[in-house]
Amino acid sequence: MTGNNSRDLARALLARHTGGETGVATAPANGAHAANGSADVANGAATATSTAATNGNGAGRGVAHTTFRDHPGVLQAGQRFGRFDTWVQQIGLVNPYYLPHEGVSGAVTRMADRDVVNFSSFGYLDLAADPRVRQAAKDAIDQYGTSAAAVRIVAGELPIYRELEAEIARIYDTETALVTASGYLTNAAAVGFLLGKRDLAVCDALIHHSVVSGTEWARCKRVSFRHNDPESLETILKMSRRSFDRAMVIIEGLYSMDGDVVRLPEIIEVARRYDCSIMIDEAHSFGTLGATGHGVRELFDLPGDAVDVWMGTLSKALGSVGGYLAGNRELVDGFKYVAGGLSMYTAAPAPSAIGAALAGLEVLRDEPERVTQLRHNSEYFHRRAKEYGFDIGTSEDSPIIPVMTGADEPAVLAALAMLQRDFSVNAITHPVVPAGEARLRFFINCRHTEQQMDQALATLREVLDGLADTAGKQLILAHEEEQRS
Ligand SMILES: Cc1ncc(COP(=O)(O)O)c(C=O)c1O
Repeated sequence: MTGNNSRDLARALLARHTGGETGVATAPANGAHAANGSADVANGAATATSTAATNGNGAGRGVAHTTFRDHPGVLQAGQRFGRFDTWVQQIGLVNPYYLPHEGVSGAVTRMADRDVVNFSSFGYLDLAADPRVRQAAKDAIDQYGTSAAAVRIVAGELPIYRELEAEIARIYDTETALVTASGYLTNAAAVGFLLGKRDLAVCDALIHHSVVSGTEWARCKRVSFRHNDPESLETILKMSRRSFDRAMVIIEGLYSMDGDVVRLPEIIEVARRYDCSIMIDEAHSFGTLGATGHGVRELFDLPGDAVDVWMGTLSKALGSVGGYLAGNRELVDGFKYVAGGLSMYTAAPAPSAIGAALAGLEVLRDEPERVTQLRHNSEYFHRRAKEYGFDIGTSEDSPIIPVMTGADEPAVLAALAMLQRDFSVNAITHPVVPAGEARLRFFINCRHTEQQMDQALATLREVLDGLADTAGKQLILAHEEEQRS
């Protein structure tokens, strides 16, 4: 490298470290645009490209590429969250993203040094707080240490994995089951393993991101049918089924954004008529649906082979972390011995997580009243939310209740205002949900009291009613501040 070139490179590096050209540091503090991902990416990318071009010798472009500062995803993060952070600071609010919980995340949690009524956590049955579940995690650590320190097939097998797998297989009435370290990876790796280039994944339009990743991993064709609509599924299968070797219909038991229950018997009927396999994700339905919380199989009183692949997570109602798959022995052996990321080529699940999940199942068996109470609370919240005049979409007496706001901004602002008033509830905005379908999503816990739910709804009514005025004022103040600086 010549002296000139290295000086140019040093200048380019220095320029980057002073932060002038990515568009992130100079982003206007405008909270109203915090959730507007795609437009922001376009702006950010344009800024980065033009700066690289002005460096003249291309060195800047090279640096940007190696540091990933010009990566569209990196720019998007900076544009959306950097800008949001500045904005909430300016108006003196707490940024709810990545805000630490300072204790157990139950019906009440501690955040920013305050007790907050918690509608943001999917620990529906409060098992993560239960002394028996905590003790089981500690006992597993005492017996097996903090890590199995190996992949299961070679040197990482522990008796508690098999114990949990036997329990899960019994619950699903399947030949066997497999536990894994991550729910997300369970979907991605299982779909990635089961389907290939000549196959078709027919997914509910609201299917979880982990399944979408699996279809990309599989390099199969993915099409979506209208949410929870067996007729739309049939239309697609009638048109496309013949063009593919295998076809798998992939659905969820309880949809995590809308809180509606899958129309499983009708979907099974259509899928089988068109020679399709069926995979169901029970992340949110296990522990919440069915008389004893055993999910959609129990709810619809189905045999274990009504569905080919039962998938679930340990991280929601069960109060632990990890995933599982249940099905016939040959299929599960495929997952266990060949598929990457489930059991092969990845470390065995943490003993503490499996110990906790086993104890969680035991508490669920001994105290079915938790499920009954969760159902009571969910029904209560639904009824009261409707009495307050909220639009709760298609949620069906389940513990996931969206309060629809339509546009992103009111959802974000209302979540911030709720946190200020000691209620934690998530704003769900585009692109996580379709544009124009933003919402505040309430997760109900079996330990919520009617008083807490009433207070939350009354506060939300007040917040949403006052929001148009408040939001307008805040945006004007932020704009004036920006003009002065
Ligand atoms: C429907 C659904 N499937 C899968 C997952 C991934 O599970 P985990 O968070 O346990 O990795 C989630 C997580 O939120 C989910 O909501």
